[in-house]
Amino acid sequence: MCGITGYIGFREAYPVIINGLQRLEYRGYDSAGIMLYDGNQIQLAKTKGKVSNLVEIAKSDISTSGVVGIGHTRWATHGVPNDVNSHPHLSQSGNLVIVHNGIIENYDAIKKELITRGYTFKSDTDTEVLVNLIEEIKTKENVKLGKAVQIALNQVVGAYAIAVFDKEKPDEIVVAKLGSPIAIGVGKDFKEFFIASDASPFIEYTKDAIYLEDEEMAIIKKGREVNVRKIKSDKLVDSNIQELQLNLEQIEKGGYEHFMLKEIHEQPRAITDTFRGRLLRDEGIIKMAGVEDNMKKFLNANRIIIVACGTSWHAGLVAEYIFEEFARIPVEVEYASEFRYRNPVITEKDVVIAISQSGETADTLAAIKLAKKRGAFVFGVCNVVGSSIARETHAGAYTHAGPEIGVASTKAFTTQITVLSLMALRLARAKGTMSSSDYRMHLQELELIPRKVEQLLNVDGHVKEIAKEYLLSTNCLYLGRGYNFPVALEGALKLKEISYIHAEGYPAAEMKHGPIALIDDRMPVIVIATSKGHYEKVVSNIQEIKSRKGKIIAVVTEGDTTVKEIADHTIEIPEVEEAFSPLLTTIPLQLLSYHIAVMRNCNVDQPRNLAKSVTVE
Ligand code: F6R
Repeated sequence: MCGITGYIGFREAYPVIINGLQRLEYRGYDSAGIMLYDGNQIQLAKTKGKVSNLVEIAKSDISTSGVVGIGHTRWATHGVPNDVNSHPHLSQSGNLVIVHNGIIENYDAIKKELITRGYTFKSDTDTEVLVNLIEEIKTKENVKLGKAVQIALNQVVGAYAIAVFDKEKPDEIVVAKLGSPIAIGVGKDFKEFFIASDASPFIEYTKDAIYLEDEEMAIIKKGREVNVRKIKSDKLVDSNIQELQLNLEQIEKGGYEHFMLKEIHEQPRAITDTFRGRLLRDEGIIKMAGVEDNMKKFLNANRIIIVACGTSWHAGLVAEYIFEEFARIPVEVEYASEFRYRNPVITEKDVVIAISQSGETADTLAAIKLAKKRGAFVFGVCNVVGSSIARETHAGAYTHAGPEIGVASTKAFTTQITVLSLMALRLARAKGTMSSSDYRMHLQELELIPRKVEQLLNVDGHVKEIAKEYLLSTNCLYLGRGYNFPVALEGALKLKEISYIHAEGYPAAEMKHGPIALIDDRMPVIVIATSKGHYEKVVSNIQEIKSRKGKIIAVVTEGDTTVKEIADHTIEIPEVEEAFSPLLTTIPLQLLSYHIAVMRNCNVDQPRNLAKSVTVE
């Protein structure tokens, strides 16, 4: 969480940094701040709230000229979101300035020590402690900024991506990384550099980027190559410049009112991109390099353990049904945050699949490290190319959904399920647990999904009408069975996170073990009742809700007549093979949450208290 950005070069730094912060707001939006050096003085503006608030304040409070600066958008960890706790933070002398994404765990002990040496602190943040520790080392050891940062980082415990500026050395910015991401955009002939938590802030300026690895730092100077070194050993490492695949269009709203709506509508394209080069229907094969290269590991696995958080965990639950059904491999799905702390039994015969859109989720990353330590083979399913999880896993498959900027995950979910379905099918074929005719049939079915999603998106207007009736609800129940039980969980998560309506997802049959007590004429119940998935049983559940006066919104297969007669509203999805139905049933639930949230005037793309990339545990 938190986004950091910076610029050093020949352009005015202010618009570059502000624009960059706006693109990084998905990482946190509790407060924002900027430091510019105008060639003479440090100009600092920071405020609680969004980057737009910062822009207002900066207009009157600072001179916005200068060709070097750093900025920050915050998701609060230490200290409430207020102006003082906002970044950048100044050192006691006022010469050093820092922005930080991460947590310094031993900040309290360092702070006490610094207080005994005469330091005073204005904020409650761990970051202000770090910048003063750097200053103390710089003064006491009489070293340059880079060396002082390095010594300080060897004393701290925790996670960080930092950018540090020293007024006495205004032609350089020092950056370092452990656990939180940092990318350096390299301008032509090294005449300018961009610093950011991901490449989106500098995509229109350069396609060349260096991604720092954990425990690496760099001193960035105009006109010079970037020297990357190890923080611990001081060893220089090869600063591998990568060519970015991202383009500007992908990170703009493209005429939609919100990123979430754009991303919902991008799903046909995103799923197609996820298939590309992998699902070869004419040849009747699936080709996935990460799976082919490690086929023995998968085939000899005693079980697959899936680790993930939030929506990605829901995709893992869908995968559990698919892998067990198709490939007959036992699957366990774990919350990464629980797995990492409960001393799980893991052996070399386990395959761990880590699912993460951002590839930066701290708990998932820690679960991967634990599994690796215990000898398991770890496979990543990530969206963000080059992310920490993509690098930490032994092998993997990208989802190719393109940048997901809305905080509520949509296209990442469906493309994760797509990748996992391809994997399950490939393994089923290799294990011989699926006949070749079934295999071909499934390939054909899967290939039709983008077209069906496209067709399904036409329900948008109908779903919007339904949303109008339920926008004042305070509670909602989501029910589904089999493959669609995880979709019920996901539907409930989407509603609560963007509309702040309390919602619960349940396997439909569990309703009578408790939740049924909640049903009355004010309780909307969203039921997934597709024709092939335990249909009659779900219809009985719908009857039970109806006889208790619950309001029923049912997702049914086109042509359904039975549920239509009982439910208050029905939303039709195209006919689909049951195992792939989550790729369709989830779409109307995304749209329903979206419209309810918009009608409730909620900030759909940046819901309160949340951040897109959860890099703290
Ligand atoms: C919900 C949502 C979160 C994420 C979770 C994991 O819409 O986006 O629940 O799914 O924080 O994030 P990743 O997939 O980046 O590891």
